[in-house]
Amino acid sequence: MKILVVGGAGYIGSHMVKQLASKGHDVTTLDNLSYGYRDAVKYGEFTEGDLGDEAVLDALFKSTRFDAVMHFAGFIQVGESVIKPAMYYHNNVVNTLTLLDAMIRHEVKNFIFSSTAAIFGEPDYTPIDEKHSKQPINPYGHSKLMIEQVLDDYDRAYGLRSTCLRYFNAAGADPGGELGERHIPETHLIPLILQAASGRREDIKVFGSDYPTDDGTCIRDYIHINDLCEAHSLGLQHMIENDRSARFNLGNGKGFSVKEVIDIAREVSGNNFKVSYEPRRDGDPAILVADATLARQDLGWKPRFADLKDIVETAWHWETTFLCKQ
Ligand code: UFG
Repeated sequence: MKILVVGGAGYIGSHMVKQLASKGHDVTTLDNLSYGYRDAVKYGEFTEGDLGDEAVLDALFKSTRFDAVMHFAGFIQVGESVIKPAMYYHNNVVNTLTLLDAMIRHEVKNFIFSSTAAIFGEPDYTPIDEKHSKQPINPYGHSKLMIEQVLDDYDRAYGLRSTCLRYFNAAGADPGGELGERHIPETHLIPLILQAASGRREDIKVFGSDYPTDDGTCIRDYIHINDLCEAHSLGLQHMIENDRSARFNLGNGKGFSVKEVIDIAREVSGNNFKVSYEPRRDGDPAILVADATLARQDLGWKPRFADLKDIVETAWHWETTFLCKQ
């Protein structure tokens, strides 16, 4: 297939581009390089441009008859979204609408959307399945849920099929060592811990140790980046074969506390490092664990990296072979 990957120079997008190319698809990346890296796009064509730029989109859709579009170009920081909601609504909602409208103009009918566990807000129960109520508690979560709602309406009105994938905590790096996570600023737990383990950071700060969990720290469901990408590939196939839209929660279904992740990082790196305890970070639910039964059943999806140690090992390889040498 011919696939347009919007945001293909970012963390998840670049791994997706590699996987699609390895499966024999023709891939084109569109990325404005605001957070992504040109050298992370190792396969296919590359266009530098913004997903909110109609002229760029029209030119791309005129030049290639894409079978599908995958959209990874959202802003992702919960805390930032609270302080700068306009930035989040503009990029994640308005620019995404511009992309969707261009798809409709050019009759491209298949869309894969990066959604998030943040659409559920504070969980009523865990693990969280697709039926769980959706009440985001920050602009980031609202912006993603708004697009899910738009997609329901665009399916009915325009026949635009979409698969929304609600990620829990994407983690790890390309096992081949070519790609990995390099956010600036980095806000995610595993890369920050590994920076402490490699000596690039003085310590790891644990945000809150008084949560209602066994060790008092937050519990998250970490899923390897390649498993996440595989769900996109399967989701695309499923959407096209069945000609229908779908929504899936994606995680391993097993939660790890912040302290457990730190212990695993010590084991994997063989290094000790300083841990500081800080107050809770605003907007962090105590426990976020996915019930991904639907993805397993409907897509035949089976995460290969079921063990967090294996996930952290790939991230540690990236930290020591690439990031430390920057
Ligand atoms: N944490 C720390 N110290 C740090 C960084 C994080 O203790 O320096 C803790 C957080 O408080 C949280 C856990 O580690 O309990 C995981 O935090 P991350 O920032 O790595 O990930 P989040 O669970 O906050 O965020 C993820 C995605 C977001 C998405 C969110 C949905 O990265 O894009 O899940 O709730 F919005």
